[in-house]
Amino acid sequence: MIGRLNHVAIAVKDLAKSAALYRDTLGAKVSAPQPEPAHGVTVVFIELPNTKIELLEPLGENSPIAKFLEKNADGGMHHICYEVADIIAARDQLKAKGARVLGDGEPKIGAHGKPVLFLHPKDFNGTLVEIEQV
Ligand code: CO
Repeated sequence: MIGRLNHVAIAVKDLAKSAALYRDTLGAKVSAPQPEPAHGVTVVFIELPNTKIELLEPLGENSPIAKFLEKNADGGMHHICYEVADIIAARDQLKAKGARVLGDGEPKIGAHGKPVLFLHPKDFNGTLVEIEQV
């Protein structure tokens, strides 16, 4: 069902510092910061030859990554995103296999303008999984 690795998201406390780390130390191509108020994060996209890394910094009062950063003071891997061809078919198949879909179970438009869903980390080896229809 899952296809390519679309991105790995890393939660960070200081986006400018982390973007500079990827740009200057790791020599990667780093985008300008993009505020995503609907998702409570500001994102920097890092283009790698085979996938993307997204750096997420909390934005606003109720950022979904605020708690994560309280527990992970240095930042850390927040989620991994796999591509699927049909998100509704994927969701129904996952639910039928007992996986828990977060929220109301309806896809939301993600940072790339495409429908996404998140799957419970307890069902996937402690890793928050995002699926994105491409
Ligand atoms: Co993501």
